[in-house]
Amino acid sequence: MLLNASGCLDALTAPDVARLLDAFVTKTVTPQPREGNAPVRIAETEVGMLNSIGLANPGIDAFQRRHLPQLAQLGIPLWVSVGGFAADEYADLCSRLDDHEEVAAIELNLSCPNVDSPVDGTAQIVAASRLATRKPLWAKLSVAVPDLPDVAQAAKEAGADGLSLINTVRGLKLDDRTLAPALGPVVGGLSGPALKPIALAAVYSCYRATGLPIVGMGGIQHGRDVLDLVAAGARHAALGTVLFADPDAPTRIRAELAEEAAARGYADVDAAYAVAHAELLSPTAT
Ligand SMILES: Cc1cc2nc3c(=O)[nH]c(=O)nc-3n(C[C@H](O)[C@H](O)[C@H](O)COP(=O)(O)O)c2cc1C
Repeated sequence: MLLNASGCLDALTAPDVARLLDAFVTKTVTPQPREGNAPVRIAETEVGMLNSIGLANPGIDAFQRRHLPQLAQLGIPLWVSVGGFAADEYADLCSRLDDHEEVAAIELNLSCPNVDSPVDGTAQIVAASRLATRKPLWAKLSVAVPDLPDVAQAAKEAGADGLSLINTVRGLKLDDRTLAPALGPVVGGLSGPALKPIALAAVYSCYRATGLPIVGMGGIQHGRDVLDLVAAGARHAALGTVLFADPDAPTRIRAELAEEAAARGYADVDAAYAVAHAELLSPTAT
């Protein structure tokens, strides 16, 4: 499946782009409305984009009342990304979405919670969410932890159906002339090409640790990047920053992906997936 990365596409203003995907992932919804961070919120760097949007969103009440019915009209499977600061907040968000038939899956954005131990915090949040919904749960993990495969395993044991990897990584850009921070909140999340090797390593180690289906993302620009993520252990792929520059990216990348797989002797990307994944999980793999 080809999806968008959360926060990188507004399906209501660009429904034609959303319809090129197999499922649409919403921007992260939080319990309360959030205005987000002070401007400047976006800056270009040599290797990708820095953002400090700060999870600006209308909050779950308005999302349920106004946005969800409009998104349902698009006729694309809908994944809702949710975020909070504590397990009970995630559970509440999940139980509210559980009532909505039009929600195909829930992605738990686990990059923000205030927790001392990422392993324990992830386990608590996923377990509480699992009790609150029967929908498929995808745990989106931060790579800014020392023990990512352990966090992934904790998510699996607590009931996650899959993993989404990776979110942005912290970065800083300085203004060319003044050398002052380019972003209002100083530090932001780096996305785009620089993330690809980090995403590949994260997908590889988490797939080997858990065997869970993974939505791979981080720096995808071309079909080759998707094929690499699949070879490293991803089942699906999500397009993020590339959508800002190229709204036709889903169509282009699907075509490139088919060519890249064929060039390596695979009938299609599923065949490449089957071979790569059997090898990744074999006990002799390194
Ligand atoms: C402007 C912007 C907003 C984002 N908002 C969210 C968000 O609300 N929730 C989330 O889980 N990830 C968010 N992300 C992270 C992306 O979903 C994705 O994990 C990351 O950008 C890596 O993929 P990419 O390099 O292809 O952009 C955002 C990224 C960008 C660039």
